[in-house]
Amino acid sequence: MAITTPLSQSNLCSTNNTIIKTPRMIHQIQSNSISLNLRNPSFQNKLWGNRNCCLVQRRGEGGLRTSVITATAAAEKQKKRYPGEGKGFVEEMRFVAMKLHTKDQAKEGEKESQAQPLGRWEPSIDGYIQFLVDSKCVYDTLESIVDKAAVPSYAEFRNTGLERAGALAKDLEWFKERGHAIPEPSNSGLSYSQYLEDLSVKDPQAFLCHFYNVYFAHTAGGRMIGKKVAEMILEKKELEFYKWDGDLKQLLQNVRDKLNVVAESWSREEKNHCLEETEKSFKYSGELLRLILT
Ligand code: HEM
Repeated sequence: MAITTPLSQSNLCSTNNTIIKTPRMIHQIQSNSISLNLRNPSFQNKLWGNRNCCLVQRRGEGGLRTSVITATAAAEKQKKRYPGEGKGFVEEMRFVAMKLHTKDQAKEGEKESQAQPLGRWEPSIDGYIQFLVDSKCVYDTLESIVDKAAVPSYAEFRNTGLERAGALAKDLEWFKERGHAIPEPSNSGLSYSQYLEDLSVKDPQAFLCHFYNVYFAHTAGGRMIGKKVAEMILEKKELEFYKWDGDLKQLLQNVRDKLNVVAESWSREEKNHCLEETEKSFKYSGELLRLILT
């Protein structure tokens, strides 16, 4: 199979009609690339310096062959390889996350629906309080990690306006005042918090994947769940957990912009590593959500 490895910017090169018409230089014309004899010095002179095409290496039956691909075709290939890439890295993260939803959770979801879709949930007050306690444990951890900023880029994510630990503390107080016992965090919240602590020092790309998913999921599906549960067991009481100071859309956009800037310094491998962590984020957050049904 052909390897299409775009070479670096410094290898960007040019092609023009003169080159294409020189028969010795052309080995083969393919659909969107032309294989050329790159050892030919007169061709090399014409090649370097133009920004509209790049070199790719293909391994075929005849061994390694270097070819020229136009920038449009290369960009097209990139777009296909990393959906959302053109709009910034957050769009790539969102694309991966949306596919991990079940079809009944979100219309972009691709996973088969669960046995118990949201519409048929039967939440309990105790289970919901446990979910809020464990969520607070996770938000406390996320918020203290960005406050400490052991990795300098985490400091960008202090005081974004998306913080939830304070709001959750008020909600738990509200339940306590109404005579409900407030339990300790369960293993779901504790093990996720420990996992986040570990990642935050040894794997910033994976940590920021969780940071994105936890905060953004809560403003989307999380809010839907909160509304549903409030209708079913809280006489429609809207908790602080689902209220933000200021324009939520703008707060989210500010965080998207910051994440995009931080990710600009990551290699493609680091970006892919971040995207691969999305599944773990769903696993841990899914465990927290399931507490509502206990
Ligand atoms: C019952 C569980 C869930 C439901 C019902 C749900 C539902 C949704 C819905 C309706 C959207 C908005 C889709 C749109 O923009 O058109 C969404 C977005 C999203 N969800 Fe979920 N979701 C659930 C669980 C999760 C989990 C566990 C995660 C990961 C931890 C997650 C991560 C995200 C992310 C990152 C977005 C994109 C938010 C944005 O672009 O602002 N979701 N979800």
